[in-house]
This record gives sequence, structure tokens and C-alpha cells, in this order.
Amino acid sequence: MPANSKNWFEGWRLFAVLSLTLVALSIWIAGMRQFEVDGVRMVIRFTARTSLLFFCLAFGAAALARLWPNAGSRWQRRNRRYLGVTFAASHAIHAVAIGCFAVMDPAGYAAATSIASYIFGGIGYAFIIAMTATSFDRTAAALGPRAWRMLHVSGGYYLLFQFTVSFGKRIPDMPLYALFLIPLVAVFALRMIAMTSARTPRAVGAG
Ligand code: HEM
Repeated sequence: MPANSKNWFEGWRLFAVLSLTLVALSIWIAGMRQFEVDGVRMVIRFTARTSLLFFCLAFGAAALARLWPNAGSRWQRRNRRYLGVTFAASHAIHAVAIGCFAVMDPAGYAAATSIASYIFGGIGYAFIIAMTATSFDRTAAALGPRAWRMLHVSGGYYLLFQFTVSFGKRIPDMPLYALFLIPLVAVFALRMIAMTSARTPRAVGAG
């Protein structure tokens, strides 16, 4: 099979299947708690975790394909735009569930948030909206490659930082939350190694 041959699960179809699955699972999770506030909070946590998954798949794709080129990593790199937009869809559900939480239980919501979560979360959402809006051929071309790269690289690192803080601050109460940091550290390390290897010319005669 040629290295870049496409399969069924690619492109916008990949995005549609994954996003509809996330919507269906979120409704199912909220429904398990009769759509009460507990269920809504479970959806907030669920989508934070699915967002982590799709963010890491998208932001680590190019580095992984560079360091370990194979059919899987090439698929991931080819579809990183759609994985990134799936991350945005997951975080849109996070936002809807946050809104429901605020309306259904204002006191609980106030206790679970702070000025810092609005500032840092707000910046995070601003990046997500800008990155999603420029994830189409036309809008990306209108922005130009330099500005596009600046936006997507700085936004990516900002979101990596925000995931690290949001999961990290829960570790003192729930030590198993440290596991969520593993994919974040792995993506950061992959990108650093790939960047260094891109700058280091191969030794003459090396394979
Ligand atoms: C203004 C924007 C945001 C607000 C108000 C907000 C609000 C919340 C709230 C209330 C929770 C706790 C839910 C609960 O304990 O029941 C939560 C969890 C979380 N949020 Fe957000 N969020 C925002 C944006 C973001 C962004 C941009 C990210 C990541 C890039 C993020 C990542 C997380 C993570 C990782 C958790 C922990 C989930 C868990 O416990 O497993 N949030 N958020």
C-alpha cells in the first residue's frame, strides 16, 4: 500500500464521526444522572479528558511522524487538522456543560471557579476559536503561512500549559491525576527532540 494512501477514517468524515460520538457520549453521561448537576459536572470532566486526548494527537503529530515515520504516524500527521478541530468540538461541549453548571448550581459553580479560571480559561478559548477559524484552506491562506504558524504554535503551547495547570492543580487532592500529565510531557518532549533533530545536520555517511 502506498505510504500516503487514504482510508475511510480520514478528513472531515473522521471529524464528523468523532464529534458526533463525543456529543452522544456526553448526553449519555449526563443522562446517567438524570441530567442533574452531577451529570453535567461529569460531562465537564469527561470532555476535559477527551480534549486532552485529541489535543495531544494533533499537537504531537508532526513531531511523531518525523521521529517515527510509519503508516500510523503518517495517518496522524495527515489528519492533524481534523484531530485539532475534534479537540475544539470537545471543548465546545466543555463550554456548554460549564454554562449548564453555572445556571443549575450557581453556588457550586462559584466554588469551582475563580478569577484565574476565567482569565486563563478565557485566553484558552480565544486561542481555540482563532485556531479553529484558521483551520480551513481559505482562512489559513488569508492569514498567510507565517502568521498561521505563529498562531498555531503559540496557541498550542499555551493550551499545553493550561492543561498542565488544570490537571496539575488537582494532584494534591487526587494523586492519580499525575497520569494526565504523561501525554503532555510526552508531546512536549517529542516536539523538542524533533526540533533539535531538524536543526542538527546528519553526519556524513550516517544512514
Ligand atoms: C472560561 C473558561 C473555563 C471555565 C469557566 C472552566 C471551568 C471548569 C470547571 C468548573 C471545571 C471543574 C468541573 C467539576 O469539578 O465538576 C473544569 C475542569 C477542567 N477544565 Fe475547564 N474551564 C474553562 C476552560 C478550560 C480550558 C481552556 C481548558 C484546557 C485547555 C480546561 C481544562 C480543564 C481540565 C483539565 C479540567 C479538569 C477535569 C477533571 O477533573 O478531570 N478548561 N473546568
